[in-house]
Amino acid sequence: MNWFVDTFRTSLGKKFLMAVTGLGFIGFIIVHMMGNMTLFVGHEAFNAYVEKLHGYEALILVAEIGLLSLAVIHVTTGLLLFLGNRSARNVSYTVKKSGGGRNIGSATMPYTGFVILLFVILHLSNFSFVDTTDRTMYDVITATFSSWIYIIVYVVSVAAVAIHVRHGFWSLFQSLGLNHEKYMPALRMISIALAVIVGVGFGLIPIYIGIIT
Ligand code: HEM
Repeated sequence: MNWFVDTFRTSLGKKFLMAVTGLGFIGFIIVHMMGNMTLFVGHEAFNAYVEKLHGYEALILVAEIGLLSLAVIHVTTGLLLFLGNRSARNVSYTVKKSGGGRNIGSATMPYTGFVILLFVILHLSNFSFVDTTDRTMYDVITATFSSWIYIIVYVVSVAAVAIHVRHGFWSLFQSLGLNHEKYMPALRMISIALAVIVGVGFGLIPIYIGIIT
């Protein structure tokens, strides 16, 4: 067991944890976005989807416990890496990290991550911890996006999700040691495509529900 704990004390071990938990989140985000696409079909289709989803009670419970565990590991490990990097930067004569492909996407990971954390807390209070005995989930969503503030907050947060996913997806292959030269250009294109799909897919929902319909 000791070797296990020791592995995750290292920076490489932490990056491995970030990669695996990040991949889990990307899987959830894609499934969640596909389900939410029924909003564009109409309120009946969306409510039918939500009702069906709630029929799988045990599966939902497992998914929620899984997501919470991923979130705890991803956020605490990310915070440890951020604090570790910061204290390393404060030591003079340390090797500059910027040589290893540091860019705006990678430098902003802790900040976009923090925005996403705040967003998820707000999002759960909007849609998960709500009483739907007298109204449908579609009603809850239309009521939320009847406010300009919520439309703006959601669009900005989804942009943060897209930026985070863009760098995160690309860098998780590095962290897992799957970074073969040959596949890097394709991986870069896939990470951009994924970010655009997630950004546009989620970002259009508040605009469509709040402004267009
Ligand atoms: C902008 C459009 C979005 C809409 C309309 C939306 C809608 C919803 C709804 C209706 C639920 C509750 C499902 C239920 O209990 O029946 C939910 C849960 C959730 N959403 Fe979203 N969502 C959006 C974006 C996002 C994004 C970008 C993320 C990730 C960063 C996210 C993460 C979650 C999480 C973690 C849950 C809780 C899942 C669970 O309890 O099993 N959502 N969302």
